[in-house]
Amino acid sequence: MSQSLIQKYNVAGPRYTSYPTVPYWDLESFSLEGWKASLQRAFQERNTTEGLSLYIHLPFCESLCTFCGCHKRITKRHEVESPYIKAVLKEWSLYLKLLGSKPVIKELHLGGGTPTFFSPEHLNDLISGILADAELAENYEFSFEGHPNNTTEAHLTTLYNLGFRRVSYGVQDYNLRIQKAINRVQPFENVKRATDLARKIGYTSVGHDIIFGLPFQTEADVIETINKTKALMPDRIAFYSYAHVPWIKGNGQRGFKTSDLPTPDAKRLQYETGKQYFEAAGYVEIGMDHFALKSDSLYKAMEQHTLHRNFMGYTASKTKAMIGLGVSSISDSWYGFAQNVKSNEEYYKLLTQDIIPVFKGHILITEDLIIRKHILNLMCNFETQWEDEALVFKELPEVLIKLKEFELDGLLQFESKKVIVTEKGKAFIRNICMAFDLLLQRTKPETQLFSMTI
Ligand SMILES: C[S@@+](CC[C@H](N)C(=O)[O-])C[C@H]1O[C@@H](n2cnc3c(N)ncnc32)[C@H](O)[C@@H]1O
Ligand code: SF4
Repeated sequence: MSQSLIQKYNVAGPRYTSYPTVPYWDLESFSLEGWKASLQRAFQERNTTEGLSLYIHLPFCESLCTFCGCHKRITKRHEVESPYIKAVLKEWSLYLKLLGSKPVIKELHLGGGTPTFFSPEHLNDLISGILADAELAENYEFSFEGHPNNTTEAHLTTLYNLGFRRVSYGVQDYNLRIQKAINRVQPFENVKRATDLARKIGYTSVGHDIIFGLPFQTEADVIETINKTKALMPDRIAFYSYAHVPWIKGNGQRGFKTSDLPTPDAKRLQYETGKQYFEAAGYVEIGMDHFALKSDSLYKAMEQHTLHRNFMGYTASKTKAMIGLGVSSISDSWYGFAQNVKSNEEYYKLLTQDIIPVFKGHILITEDLIIRKHILNLMCNFETQWEDEALVFKELPEVLIKLKEFELDGLLQFESKKVIVTEKGKAFIRNICMAFDLLLQRTKPETQLFSMTI
């Protein structure tokens, strides 16, 4: 990867888990009533054909990892579990009332925070409560994020008995110096134990999250982490670029200095090296930041062009409507987005008043829907087209001029009314999507909103 390309394209840019991206939501024309109507429309159109996805945010963690960009609350008081579960079930009951008939659940994901902070009994209450008034789609997929240090056999068995078959564990890096810098000491034995247990119980997909670009991390550390990972051969690997966003309120990115982070060139090299090692071990690159074995459903989804991307990241099922429950969760009806309040106190208060605890959102206009489709095509399939009239929009000629620049740099190729990202261009997929992001181009942010693309 040439240094000049890295310098040219290393800018602040979205990761496109949605379009429009959250900072560009039109908050003024959003209303809770508008959100509810958009969800009802999606439900009527898709419930029986595609089903719904559910994301449940479980925000608590016992200790703070200082690299973490997720929404979490640090506590050792496990009394918080029961009221939180009750509140999530209350939120679900408000949605059930709104939808009017039984939702068909295609996908359910527990994220955090640390879902395994909760006891197996509480997780059982939560999932049984959610499923009591729902139906399951054929080939439904339930998954959760487990912390290797606190995922027990009882957690894994309880969730398995409820239908969970996929778990992803946060690994990040195995080097002790890095683990100390990010306040997350987690020996290989813990990851091995949690991975082996999941397999023994019958989970069909075990994922590991690995990060490159962490403080003090070198190429040799990445290689060492991958070699240890290869000893366990997880079915999926999320190979995330460390997102340094210390200006976002409430996240704990401290304990190291910006100068402790690898330079953009060194960081890119870590990715390139990691990719080579993963591919040599039999993994296939999926979209941005992900690798999977050919036996995993994510690989099959890529092959069948059914890969989808939403706030949960990449998913194997193309379910357009997703309800997010719990603090800070984002829901997506395809026609609109809505985000829940972030504070637990506010969340409980609104639910006691029987109010769906949404505080902001966006209703998509026709232009947003078209751009969203192009960005999804690029993020999931590394290509997009405008042969289909429905994908043509007024500003397309200007976007094509921008894409020419990427073509000159060898990052994409034109083929009649289609662009295909080259192997070299995959590393710059966020930049290529930015060429389609009309909202970003119309209003350039005054302060940095997004992490750097490299
Ligand atoms: C919300 S965490 C949940 C997993 C669980 N709490 C744990 O730590 O094992 C999901 C994943 O997000 C990734 N992540 C969190 N903060 C990040 C950041 N600033 N940059 C890149 N990836 C990040 C980590 O790889 C982490 O495993
Ligand atoms: S990485 Fe996981 S355990 Fe650590 S603070 Fe973030 S959510 Fe909590």
